[in-house]
Amino acid sequence: MRIDILTLFPEMFEGVFSQSILKRAVNKGLLELHTHDIRDYTKDKHRKVDDYPFGGGAGMVMMVQPIADCIAALKAERNYDAVLFMAPDGQTFNQAKANQISMYENVIILCGHYKGVDERVRELFVTEEISIGDYVLSGGEIAAMAIVDAVARVIPGVIGDESSALTDSFQDGLLSPPVYTRPADYEGHCVPEILLSGNQRLIDDWKLEQQLERTKKRRPDLLDTAGVQE
Ligand code: ADE
Repeated sequence: MRIDILTLFPEMFEGVFSQSILKRAVNKGLLELHTHDIRDYTKDKHRKVDDYPFGGGAGMVMMVQPIADCIAALKAERNYDAVLFMAPDGQTFNQAKANQISMYENVIILCGHYKGVDERVRELFVTEEISIGDYVLSGGEIAAMAIVDAVARVIPGVIGDESSALTDSFQDGLLSPPVYTRPADYEGHCVPEILLSGNQRLIDDWKLEQQLERTKKRRPDLLDTAGVQE
């Protein structure tokens, strides 16, 4: 899978893309990540990428031309399955969306800044608008990083233990069960006995019970979609 990110702040991605799971995905050849500085595409002699909003109002608006030219340059090289725009008024991101995006071959992610981007960018080029939650970030970059991370971990082969991503919270519509490691007794706080029993069937039953209990207590809204009776 290849992801091209259009941003005014490409340096923001460097640390995140060069560590941990994302680094591994790239090194294994399972994921290609490219950032593009929108400013490199401006035709303005002062390298301007934004301007005042027509009709007045606070903040600057990102102009169509640099974004349009950057997208055109990419589309001249290959076909894209989606152009995602990070926006607080987009569709709320979730695990199902991450799974769906992970099946695309080539994706563009556009990060907005300032007061927004000219609406014609959204109309002409964007295929999906995605929000990572009901709050406003200073730009789409942090949202794009969250999406790239969530997508990368479900690409087959990215995570060493194949089943690991499939047992993440939300993959089966339930939260994950609690996990423990050594020591079995930390200052009198003991690991549940069953996990030390060696009986895998009983352990699996216990884990599912914990998932249901946890989800019912913390996120009862998920139980409806998971098809579980409360
Ligand atoms: N840009 C600003 N806020 C955002 C949000 N909540 N999700 C995605 N992109 C954003």
